[in-house]
Amino acid sequence: MKRPFAELSGTGSYAPPRVMTNDEFSKILDTSDQWIRERTGIRERRISTKEETNACMGKAAALQVLEQNGLTPLDLDAIVYATASPDRLLPSQACDLQAILGAKNAAALDVGAACSGFVYALSVAEGIVAAQQAERVLVVAAEKLTSIMDWSDRTTAVLFGDGAGATLVRPCTGTRGILSSYLKSDGTLAELLYRRGGGASHPPSEELLKDHSYYIKMAGREVFKAAVLSMADACDQALRRAGLTADDIDLLIPHQANIRIIEATAKHAGVPMEKVYVNVDRFGNTSAASIAIALDEAVKTGRLTAGMTVMFCAFGAGFTWASMVVRW
Ligand code: UT7
Repeated sequence: MKRPFAELSGTGSYAPPRVMTNDEFSKILDTSDQWIRERTGIRERRISTKEETNACMGKAAALQVLEQNGLTPLDLDAIVYATASPDRLLPSQACDLQAILGAKNAAALDVGAACSGFVYALSVAEGIVAAQQAERVLVVAAEKLTSIMDWSDRTTAVLFGDGAGATLVRPCTGTRGILSSYLKSDGTLAELLYRRGGGASHPPSEELLKDHSYYIKMAGREVFKAAVLSMADACDQALRRAGLTADDIDLLIPHQANIRIIEATAKHAGVPMEKVYVNVDRFGNTSAASIAIALDEAVKTGRLTAGMTVMFCAFGAGFTWASMVVRW
């Protein structure tokens, strides 16, 4: 087994206090609590207010991580920010966080890998640390998806939620740390899950507003199938690269999009559901933030403790998929 270059130190998360139940959706859309629960496992999700910007949520999660590490923002060498719903397109979300944290000594960059964003960002941070470019890299994953979803489309609106999670990646001090990672993509399938409008090739226009092109569009069934296959591939690859088997995994934290995808992934990976962290019922799909929020909950509730081996696996728009095995 390779000696890890980098470890994760401290976790934080932020969930907007406003809880929206499935029954509330059934008052504004042709849907029901029963359909949403049975098809997705989601019972409720968190909805941010206008004041709860992506950067504010990211900051709240980041401050917990800094406090646990006894650091101030000035101690940070870099900020890597995973998001698909930045407050604005330019500059990066990481730069906005750098400014509001006052992290004057930090480089700042965004990672655009949608729901795989947190695992991608951890891997980028690991690389920066391994290249001895930085010693303290703050990794934040935050989403304000309810601002970019189509509230009139029942096939997507009921799925998403808002929130943020964070951790610190730093050089290894012992045997704990990142044992393996695996990143993959297939951009030929981009239009199964995407936002057409708003970028440089489709700048703002009346037409884009009218046809709801600023919102996330998804071919759910196709994405579902790809998610199951890709997350299975991701688990296999991360285990193989770490020289481990499913029996060595104490906790699996998969991307939280749909309980049926989570169950199929766990079954393929050979990890029993008792060892799988699930919070999709309470948060819905928070894209890049989902594994980061679940990680923080797992640590704070004692599900993940020092010495355990945890595996992350994710899948999202791009398509992108990714996995990582970490000795905690
Ligand atoms: O996070 C990154 C990736 N995202 C995902 O992994 C999400 C992947 N996809 C999924 O989780 C599932 O495909 C969905 C939850 C989005 C949909 O579940 P499904 O079992 O694949 O349903 P479906 O798309 O096959 O639709 C079945 C029926 C359709 O009606 P007809 O055509 O059979 O009459 C839909 O119109 O369910 C209908 N439907 C709904 N009914 C009530 C779709 N959305 C809803 C809804 N409420 N919210």
